[in-house]
Amino acid sequence: MLTNQTRNPLSVEATKRHLELETPVISTRVERLYDDVFGVGRRHKASYTFRDSIAQSRDLSWVAYEEGELAGAIRYWPIAVGPSKRPALLLGPLAVASHRAGRGLGSLLMIKTLNLAARLGHSMILLVGDPGFYRRFGFLPASPWGFSMPGETRPERLQLLPLRQGQLTCGGEIERVQPVSATVLAWRHQPVPAGRR
Ligand SMILES: CC(C)(COP(=O)(O)OP(=O)(O)OC[C@H]1O[C@@H](n2cnc3c(N)ncnc32)[C@H](O)[C@@H]1OP(=O)(O)O)[C@@H](O)C(=O)NCCC(=O)NCCS
Repeated sequence: MLTNQTRNPLSVEATKRHLELETPVISTRVERLYDDVFGVGRRHKASYTFRDSIAQSRDLSWVAYEEGELAGAIRYWPIAVGPSKRPALLLGPLAVASHRAGRGLGSLLMIKTLNLAARLGHSMILLVGDPGFYRRFGFLPASPWGFSMPGETRPERLQLLPLRQGQLTCGGEIERVQPVSATVLAWRHQPVPAGRR
């Protein structure tokens, strides 16, 4: 079971915060949070190649509320790896609103979803991000193990977390899974009612 080595987000000022599954109703607000944190240019990153028109893993996409405000969010996406197209997960984006950062919310979202992914039987998680943050959750540099993401210009940021034995020995290139129809994706673009932003 993963725990936070540096603080316990479940106990530190925890009474005014909680996690929920991301629902279609709040997805536009989550997109806005990601835009605020990463900028709208985020969509040009190589990792978005593996998200565009792909349905996110709904059971692993969670949001964090603090004092009633949407304060953080994490998403996961199905990907395929290597010539045998082994199923894996792509983590991201993970973001916490800047004025809520540094108080354990990002770690809370990570611990919750990593444990859930393991319980759901997933084999491996990959992401592109700052190693200094993700190392504490067990992520390793992925390139030395033969994993690569087409289009990623900073391969040292590609990291992986094996959730089952034997995953490190079968590196390969990350591939998109089959896209879903526009109808299925429509819920992600519902307008946010005024006053709920
Ligand atoms: C990265 C992020 C999700 C972390 O969430 P958070 O709620 O602020 O993090 P927590 O409070 O759980 O953990 C804070 C710890 O993470 C570290 N940390 C935060 N961002 C970091 C980064 N980009 N690189 C390395 N370490 C980082 C802090 O130094 C702190 O370390 P400490 O516990 O040793 O003091 C959040 O700060 C964020 O959205 N940042 C903007 C986006 C970003 O920089 N992403 C980089 C990762 S891809």
